[in-house]
Amino acid sequence: MRYVVNRMTLSDLPRVLEIEKLAYPTSQWPESAYQRELRENRWAHYLVVRDTLVRDQPAPSGGDALLARRAFPFSMFHSAKPATSDPELASIVGYAGLWLMYDEGHVTTIATHPSVRRRGLGELLLVHLIDIAMEIGARWVTLEVRVTNASAQALYHKYGFQIVSTRPHYYSDNNEDAYIMWTDEITQPKYQAFFADLKTKLYDRLSRDEMVMS
Ligand SMILES: CC(C)(COP(=O)(O)OP(=O)(O)OC[C@H]1O[C@@H](n2cnc3c(N)ncnc32)[C@H](O)[C@@H]1OP(=O)(O)O)[C@@H](O)C(=O)NCCC(=O)NCCS
Repeated sequence: MRYVVNRMTLSDLPRVLEIEKLAYPTSQWPESAYQRELRENRWAHYLVVRDTLVRDQPAPSGGDALLARRAFPFSMFHSAKPATSDPELASIVGYAGLWLMYDEGHVTTIATHPSVRRRGLGELLLVHLIDIAMEIGARWVTLEVRVTNASAQALYHKYGFQIVSTRPHYYSDNNEDAYIMWTDEITQPKYQAFFADLKTKLYDRLSRDEMVMS
């Protein structure tokens, strides 16, 4: 498959932070927070998604391979060109994280580079997080999301998350409220069948898109 999901490592952080600035322009986690998560938090699971097209066929200036495939005027928007020429780093196009707290999986972050949105990659990351949650024995998955963040909410709704409550003024940059969303019990056959169906459709979509691109 063109897109692969790997565990995040410390050496991925320069590119993760680059994407973080674009994905969360008003409030980013500092590098030290990610370092702590990766080094010290045994309950944390962080992932990156890589575009192997960028990694395996790097253009002379790294991520330009992506841009070369995007017709004008789309090539004008949100350059995917990373600051690095290291193809391994340049190929990272998104990331996500989850903590296990008791029997709850808590999604801490999920982001894709603006140049690759609406291709199913946010969904691919969420699927991997839910898979991890299932593997490590979580019974539910939960998260907070800005009340104005309709695109993220749509992604979560698609995977069965429902708004259960609101946390007023949760975001300190603009005092915005957060919705708290929860899945149904992910250990139940009903959720597992629902999840398996979405996953099959996603992988079909990603491999179809891959065939169109090649
Ligand atoms: C939220 C985010 C990760 C989605 O990533 P993405 O790669 O564009 O998402 P996908 O292409 O996998 O979309 C999957 C589903 O999410 C929903 N969705 C995503 N973007 C959407 C949009 N702009 N409008 C409506 N629905 C959207 C749709 O249900 C979509 O399914 P579909 O393709 O069958 O319609 C991305 O927009 C992002 O990085 N945002 C900035 C960071 C952020 O807000 N993170 C969430 C913090 S809680």
